[in-house]
Amino acid sequence: MDIKFTDLCLKNPENSTLTQFAEEIDKGLSLENKRLPSWLIYDNEGSVLFQEINSLEGYHPTYCETEIFHAHKEDIAKLISNQPFNLIELGAGDGRKTTILLNYFIEKKLDINYIPIDVSEGAIRNLSNSLKDRFENDSLNFHGLTADYFQGINWLNENSSQRNLVFFLGSSIGNFDIISAQRFLKHLKDSLSENDLVLIGFDLMKDPKLLHAAYNDPQGVFQKFNLHLLDRINEELGGNFNTNKFIQSGTYNAKSRAVESFIYSVEEQTVRLNSLDKEFHFDLWEGMQTEHSYKYTIPIIEKLAEGSGFEIVNHFFDQNHYFVDSLWKLK
Ligand code: AVI
Repeated sequence: MDIKFTDLCLKNPENSTLTQFAEEIDKGLSLENKRLPSWLIYDNEGSVLFQEINSLEGYHPTYCETEIFHAHKEDIAKLISNQPFNLIELGAGDGRKTTILLNYFIEKKLDINYIPIDVSEGAIRNLSNSLKDRFENDSLNFHGLTADYFQGINWLNENSSQRNLVFFLGSSIGNFDIISAQRFLKHLKDSLSENDLVLIGFDLMKDPKLLHAAYNDPQGVFQKFNLHLLDRINEELGGNFNTNKFIQSGTYNAKSRAVESFIYSVEEQTVRLNSLDKEFHFDLWEGMQTEHSYKYTIPIIEKLAEGSGFEIVNHFFDQNHYFVDSLWKLK
């Protein structure tokens, strides 16, 4: 296995994640209904906590997508046949599911450049370490990019002319609202070339009771994951949030079609962030939204593909139809 790393965040310090982080926190905590975007949770520690979520028995997106990859690895391999290609993974995490496909692609002697892109440098390093153990003697090229997604794809376009297969798995698309998802996908389309393909994991709408169970685990890992954001604010912005004074809960909202996660202040309190030189007040039981996870139906996915300039090639479902990996090409 051949390993390379490129850190595009270091190359563009004025656009650093810390500056963006501070701006988003200031904006979100100043709203009348406090709300913070979920990507803020994912520093190195947040990525590790998310991997813990992925191991929870009740968190269906992971086991459904694992099932899909085992059942359809041959169909996916056929798409790329014997041309050399870049397998780009947006927000790769621990790459556990992708490993199923990598194993198969290597077995079939496909010529792959695996390029995970993540804003967390630690996540990319951890991923390369776990793949190194597994693929040490195989002909796999690994090139980890620490970057935001578009920075990463644009950089690749300038530095590689190979065909791209882009993975956006695990229902990460669900953390955008529909308008932002469409904007994101249009931007993705504009960064790709004619023969490139995109595989997107969508969590499908199902019995809300199942969703409630999936997003409120009895072990409290989701709560730990959401409250990690407060620890991160303390660390990065000199804050004094006390995580014992907040609890988290996720609820499906039929109007927004999303599971919405809030953290609630269990007492009236004021929090100070030294780096911003500001204080933020929380009323007793005031809620602050930290995540939304949109749930999809096939007609909504079809509209989204159409509206963002893609054409659907295939849908790969798990046996319960809880989840779909939808394969798209440029229109
Ligand atoms: C990363 N994302 C797709 C997960 C989701 O399902 O929205 C994050 C998550 N939050 C709580 N559980 C999982």
